[in-house]
Amino acid sequence: MSHIQQKSIVVLISGSGSNMQAIVRAAQERLWEQRWGARVVGVVSNRPEAAGLSWAREQGLTTRTVDHKAYEGREAFDAALMQVVDGLAPGGRPDLVVLAGFMRILTPGFVAHYHGRLVNIHPSLLPAFPGLHTHQRAIEAGCRFAGATVHRVTAELDHGEYLEQAVVPVLPGDTPEALAARVLTQEHLIYPRAIERLLTV
Ligand code: GRF
Repeated sequence: MSHIQQKSIVVLISGSGSNMQAIVRAAQERLWEQRWGARVVGVVSNRPEAAGLSWAREQGLTTRTVDHKAYEGREAFDAALMQVVDGLAPGGRPDLVVLAGFMRILTPGFVAHYHGRLVNIHPSLLPAFPGLHTHQRAIEAGCRFAGATVHRVTAELDHGEYLEQAVVPVLPGDTPEALAARVLTQEHLIYPRAIERLLTV
């Protein structure tokens, strides 16, 4: 029996975690563990009330909370978060840290600690609309298309190598909520696809 090298994935969320759910489902349905020894070893949120945490627990996944309100400053929070994230992985070193609707700006120290194994999904066609309120901005700019980008995380916000992108039309009369929902369905397709590519390199 060839010994498949185990790959540990930790997912970070702040809210519903719909991208995390899509990733967990893809891992189950596409047999990531059997094919690549890859598995989601934990789901961590900065918000104790994040709905995604209860969903993850129902799936039998290990969950942790690191409440950012309990820390003085970003460095202290990120240091605590790193410890929890590393503690979830065999050998104390996750192979991939996946930001999925994680709504915290991470310090350069955190990004450096996970250099080359940190990814994020941003709800715009980067390099357009880095930052927040991307759908409202795309509508106000009169864009005909919008979308999402999975990218590696570097010290500069929303600027790492693009791994996957998806495009959706902006329709007449679109509200930011309608556009967000249309983009989200695509996010749930490209995030698992991007992770699979990283697992198979
Ligand atoms: C998504 O639009 C994602 O692109 C952004 O946060 C939103 C919610 O993501 N980062 P999720 O439902 O919590 O995965």
